[in-house]
Amino acid sequence: MKAPTPGMLAVGLLGVTVFTLMMVGPPGSYTPPPEPQSVGPAPSSIAVNGFTLTSDTVDLPVDDQLYPDGPHADVINANCTSCHSASMAMTQPVLSADQWKATVTKMKDVYKAPV
Ligand code: HEC
Repeated sequence: MKAPTPGMLAVGLLGVTVFTLMMVGPPGSYTPPPEPQSVGPAPSSIAVNGFTLTSDTVDLPVDDQLYPDGPHADVINANCTSCHSASMAMTQPVLSADQWKATVTKMKDVYKAPV
């Protein structure tokens, strides 16, 4: 490989300098991001760049129904209610064997159900 001439080095250095100055921008053009909020209670609303996010409270319905007594009911109650309630599972329409197999595969493989 041929060694670069001083002229080539000067043009390369000039190019790198111009590129760096273009990326940095003119003096005083940098606007630092807003400081993070101090630790404390969450604000009820915050406005940034024209958007306002407002905290709200949602009262979820209490659903403590368990699966009915039967073989391995304790295992089912311990492992099946972390993602959805027993009342949801027990009020679904009947599925064919193939549909149920696909749903179980999805619960295990996609949603990582432990059983
Ligand atoms: C990791 C989360 C998770 C766990 C744990 C889990 N499920 Fe599910 N289950 C889902 C999701 C997500 C769906 C909705 C799947 C869909 O149809 O897209 C679902 C759907 C269902 C349905 C409705 C199927 C239908 O389409 O009608 C039943 C019934 C069900 N689950 C039973 C169970 C049982 C029984 C267990 C325990 C052995 C269990 N689930 C554990 C995530 C979970």
